[in-house]
Formats: sequence, C-alpha cells, structure tokens
Amino acid sequence: SALRRKCVLGNWKMNGSLAANASLLEALVAALGKVQNVDVGVAVPFPYLAQAQQALGGSPVRWGAQDVSAHASGAYTGEVAGPMLVDFGASFVLVGHSERRSLHGETSDVVADKAKAALAAGLTPVVCVGETLAEREAGTTLAVIGEQLAPVLALGADAVKRMIVAYEPVWAIGTGRTASPEQAQEVHAAIRERLRQAGAGEVQVLYGGSVKAANAASLFAMADIDGGLVGGASLDAQDFAGIVAAA
Ligand code: G3P
Repeated sequence: SALRRKCVLGNWKMNGSLAANASLLEALVAALGKVQNVDVGVAVPFPYLAQAQQALGGSPVRWGAQDVSAHASGAYTGEVAGPMLVDFGASFVLVGHSERRSLHGETSDVVADKAKAALAAGLTPVVCVGETLAEREAGTTLAVIGEQLAPVLALGADAVKRMIVAYEPVWAIGTGRTASPEQAQEVHAAIRERLRQAGAGEVQVLYGGSVKAANAASLFAMADIDGGLVGGASLDAQDFAGIVAAA
C-alpha cells in the first residue's frame, strides 16, 4: 500500500571481518547515503555493532543485530541483551530467523519472548516466519505460518504495531530459488490478514529468500510486499543498493 514505507534490510549472517566490513560499510554509505523514501538497514554480527555504528552513524542506513536474548540481563552465558544492542545504536533485531529455529531449537514461544524483550529495550523486532519445502508440498504453508505468528500476535496490538514481519520460505533461503511474486503475495496477504485481525494491519511485511537486484522490483510491486530481507546479496554494496533502488 502507498501508506506503508518500503523497507530493505540486509542480513549479513555469520560473515565479515573488520577489514571486509570497513570497505562494505564505506561503499554502503557512498551508495545509500542519500536514500530517503526507503527504510534501509543491515543486521551485523554482534562484535561488529560498534564498527557499524561508527561507519553508519549520521547516514540514513540503520544497523541492528541478528538475535537477542529474551532476558534483559543476568546469568545467561553467551547471550546478548536488547539494552546492550541499544548501547551500540542498534535500532532493530531479527528474531526467529529460520536458521535460529532449525539450528538452535528456537520455538515460536521463544521467538515471541525475544520480540517482547526487543520491544522493551526500544528495538524494532523483525519477526521471521516461513515454511520448509516439505511443509509447502504438504499444503500446510499457511497453517505453519499461522502457528509461528500466534504467540507473537498474542503480545497485543500495541506491541505488534511496533514490529516488522519477514516472510522467508526456507526453501528459498540461500538457494537461488526465489518464491515467485504470486507465491510470495499469497502468503503475504494471509500474514496481512492475521495482522489486521490482531489490530496491526499496517505493519511492514518483508519478503526474504534469494532476493537479488534482478528479481526485487517484481516482488516489491506486489500489494502486500513492503520490501525485502536480503542475505547473500547484502554482502555486496552494489547488489544491495540495486535492491534498495527497486524498492
Ligand atoms: O535473512 C535473509 C535470508 O535468510 C535470505 O538469504 O541469501 O537467500 O538472500 P538469501
């Protein structure tokens, strides 16, 4: 809808180094330093938040993290709390990325707890949902996504209005196999309907899974696709800027 701003977020995943990030961040500022009509950000690994803050501060490009603890502080060895991310100027955090769900056992209840903790710290949670290939083939896509969203929507309209949702079909992540604009739109419309029922119909819903500059415009043209969550292509400033330009 014309009411919703487009948003393009990069997810660097576990990639980068001080040296590689320095050139990437510099190129991002050069390419996107004047972007106005699109919300743009990158989710970097925790140790590089300070570097991102230094390089992106004062530019329109925001930075965030890829995970957050459900707790604000305490005896949680190895976890990173929302207020710590805020200390480094982060404005958003991914929660429930499929790699966290499948490799680290995050349930949808844990994802909702993390979204709640992010909001309490003043961060925008980017709640990721998506079905596996087996679930799609079994015809359970919308049921799976409904279950993944349920505990998050139960946090209430005031909370959900301050979130972003990302639909990332697991079979499209890092595979080069993008959902077609129509396939994605079908799921986005269903997500939008659930958000509307929860009193938060104008939340941005991003698509993720092999988004490239070449396929971004046709995806972002769909009625309920408000932008993208970009993995691989966010590691190249020109590719990423090309996707932002399509938004
Ligand atoms: O969070 C982004 C993501 O999982 C998509 O990755 O590499 O398919 O763009 P990619």
